[in-house]
Amino acid sequence: MTRTVLVTGGGTGMGYAIAARFAADGDEVYITGRRAEVLQKAAAALGEQVHAMPCDHTDPERILAAVAQLPGRLHVLVNNLGGAVSIGLPEPDSLAGLAERWRSDLNKNLLAAVLTTYAVAERLADGAAVVHIGSRAADLGDGSYGAAKAGLASWNIDIARTLGPRGVTSNVVSPSFTGGTDLFGDTLTAEQSDQWIAETFLGRAGTPTDIAETVYFLASPGARYITGQVINVDGGARTVL
Ligand SMILES: NC(=O)c1ccc[n+]([C@@H]2O[C@H](COP(=O)([O-])OP(=O)(O)OC[C@H]3O[C@@H](n4cnc5c(N)ncnc54)[C@H](OP(=O)(O)O)[C@@H]3O)[C@@H](O)[C@H]2O)c1
Repeated sequence: MTRTVLVTGGGTGMGYAIAARFAADGDEVYITGRRAEVLQKAAAALGEQVHAMPCDHTDPERILAAVAQLPGRLHVLVNNLGGAVSIGLPEPDSLAGLAERWRSDLNKNLLAAVLTTYAVAERLADGAAVVHIGSRAADLGDGSYGAAKAGLASWNIDIARTLGPRGVTSNVVSPSFTGGTDLFGDTLTAEQSDQWIAETFLGRAGTPTDIAETVYFLASPGARYITGQVINVDGGARTVL
């Protein structure tokens, strides 16, 4: 069966790899992001069954407009977009600045997934799969970003309960440091990435393909009894405090 798949933030990084994995199966894949040109380039590279659909998922009106372009039934939703708003920025030096930082991270890493899931909920086919990309930052304490991802993991239980009677699963895939994405821009030092790699049992960074394969499994027939879970995809990474 050809499935309809929506991958938010699908123009780069993990989202691109996730879109590629489903497209390789012949599924119809819709990728979103704020930059139309990035999406068009990604869709052109991935093949004719991948469709660029510009959308800012922090804006309810834009989400509704984008969702209206989808086919009637959605089989897989991947709430992938996210990232720490603070990367490369100094700490806020005022309470208003702190409020802005927290609102931005909560909007991007929690509310975008909540709004998108509710916007497509009626379209989700019975037995569909919803997967959210969280972060091990949720468990390790990482300011507003970690708190937002921890909120995502908590809300995942709530939405899994809500969607469960229709056979729809909802799970979080929680990566640690994953290379080959745009998340860090040019701010990542070799020292920092070496430290994160040293914290893993496997001695390497995660790859977007590692994440894509786990998302793909959670949407497969073999994973229909897995719901309300957080799956760490982190090479066994442990931070010794
Ligand atoms: N890389 C890591 O080490 C790592 C570790 C743990 C968790 N994660 C999580 O993995 C997920 C994917 O990140 P990534 O590493 O693949 O980074 P990435 O390459 O920067 O991908 C993020 C994507 O999200 C899109 N996006 C951002 N804000 C958006 C918005 N408001 N509306 C729609 N699209 C938006 C971006 O496109 P536009 O800018 O064009 O909108 C971009 O394509 C994120 O949730 C991140 O928090 C990453």
